[in-house]
Amino acid sequence: MPYPAWLPFLLETPDLTHVSTPLELAQKEINLGLQALSAGIKGKVTCDPALPRDAYRIVKSEQTVQVHGGSCGVLYGTYEVLMALREERDFPEGLQTPQYPDRMVNCWDNMDGSIERGYAGKSLWFSGGRLQYDEQRILQLSRLLASVGINVICLNNVNVHEPAQDLIDLQLPDLSKLAALFRPFGIRLMISIDFSQPMRHDLSTADPLSHEVQAWWKNRVDLVYREIPDLYGFLVKADSEHRPGPFTYGRTHAEGANMLADALASHGGKLVWRCFVYNCTQDWRDRKTDRPCAAYDTYQPLDGQFRENVILQVKHGPFDFQVREPISPLLLSMQSTNLAMELQLAQEYTGQQIDLYTMVPMWKELFQVLPKDRLCAIAAVSNLGASDCFTGHPLALCNLFGYGKIAWNPSLASGDVVRSFVRLSYDFSQEDRESLTGCMLESRAIYEKYTANLGLCWMITPNQHYGPNPDGYEYQSWGTYHKADRNAVGIDRTGSGTGYTLQYPEALRELYANVASCPDELLLFFHRLPYTFVMRDGRTLMQRLYDDHFEGLARAEQLTKTLCALPFPERDRQEIQRRAALQVSNAREWCDIINTFFHRFSGIPDEMGRTIYD
Ligand code: GCU
Repeated sequence: MPYPAWLPFLLETPDLTHVSTPLELAQKEINLGLQALSAGIKGKVTCDPALPRDAYRIVKSEQTVQVHGGSCGVLYGTYEVLMALREERDFPEGLQTPQYPDRMVNCWDNMDGSIERGYAGKSLWFSGGRLQYDEQRILQLSRLLASVGINVICLNNVNVHEPAQDLIDLQLPDLSKLAALFRPFGIRLMISIDFSQPMRHDLSTADPLSHEVQAWWKNRVDLVYREIPDLYGFLVKADSEHRPGPFTYGRTHAEGANMLADALASHGGKLVWRCFVYNCTQDWRDRKTDRPCAAYDTYQPLDGQFRENVILQVKHGPFDFQVREPISPLLLSMQSTNLAMELQLAQEYTGQQIDLYTMVPMWKELFQVLPKDRLCAIAAVSNLGASDCFTGHPLALCNLFGYGKIAWNPSLASGDVVRSFVRLSYDFSQEDRESLTGCMLESRAIYEKYTANLGLCWMITPNQHYGPNPDGYEYQSWGTYHKADRNAVGIDRTGSGTGYTLQYPEALRELYANVASCPDELLLFFHRLPYTFVMRDGRTLMQRLYDDHFEGLARAEQLTKTLCALPFPERDRQEIQRRAALQVSNAREWCDIINTFFHRFSGIPDEMGRTIYD
């Protein structure tokens, strides 16, 4: 049975007949929630139009708790009241405002009901080529998203497949009904569009400088906004992995994005343009091209050329959501362009919602180097699907929860976020809560140890992206090489190598370019080193490769034991235990295959004499 995740005390979905604003919804939710929690206090919600849209203040007196908020803040404040009561913690003091005004999830749902990189079942809103959904589940989901402040949802895959054009052409009335379901939760819809769409409508070109094309898009946008006046805007993946884009016409990405932005501007719409552009037909023999350099090389020269309502959406690292990547230098260098950082909740390369992988600690590393006011928005590829708990693995919900929390306030501590999730989701003893929180907080480090330590990436099974295959991407066209041979591994990305480190501001450039200061976790991302290289801790590189993989496996086994001993409710227990067992086999495969791979190359034995299969 589907259940309401970290809001289990809100079992009922409110009756939404006649509810059209977050204020009306908040008034229902506060009563329902206080009653469900047997809080013994009354709730009052008032909207103050003078407050910023998302802001709220909670004022508690003897018998009443009052939420004053902006038009959406009323709802965020309400959920905060309910969650704080449930967690038995204090209400936040003073005016609460989010760090980023737009907090988006990008769903990669296809209209046939499948989800690209989806690990939680089918789409919640597409099936058989059209919009089709269970209203109650949409309401449950909206409530979850709103409870952690997420306010934009992009419904369809950035890789827009053929039938997706129907979304605007044939399904606008249905889309508009769906928008109305999300609306009281303060959530606005966004749609992914295909840059070449005009050509599917008898135009001979999609050239952004063609007047005909501009008029076509304007017309199209007007049509959509007539039905959905508060649509957030369009999301575009252009000139990337065989998607069409302005390069076909010799135009820049500023020209392409601005054309669409102009069409959206009069409606207040935003154009979100992804910066995931690189040469995906690279010859592996080509030693000069280095994929991590690509985004900066393409977009940095265009800084300042984008319209006000364009947002460039940049993946957090220069590759593609690997277990460990340094922050994208593009995020640090664009001074005059609106930026959103793109995270990935879907565990494409990070265990596919089978292996436990809680992302908050990983994101915190990014916020440590990102200047506070650098982003105007934040986006995350969704990990949602129609599975009962929405994310396949019940504990993967914490990534959605944590994303919302961190998008609102990136200064929150990882431990606090995860502890809140655990406290809200499970009726455990203090000891069990701490034990689960501990498992979740160390899960990323464990996964990293048995898969991709020291900054090695792409040793994963091609296309599928689960399980080890050390040479799987080595001779392919995707620009994803580690270049292991019998002496050394890694790529020199310093000034004397591919030059990638030169894209960073000075402090980071120095940190990464110098072997002595480069963090161990990124060593082989930035440097090519012999297996005999002596690391900071006195062990050789080869020994660290072995040790980390053995350690990762041992810790994954321990993690599984701990998880399996916890008193999860029946609804979660089986799924958690089944996945934990799969995680251990996965960890064993990684450990043995990677160790064997390096042992065969280097011929160096493990100092500890452990079994390495040759
Ligand atoms: C990865 C992923 C693709 C996806 C792409 C993207 O390459 O494997 O499925 O299309 O990222 O972010 O667009």
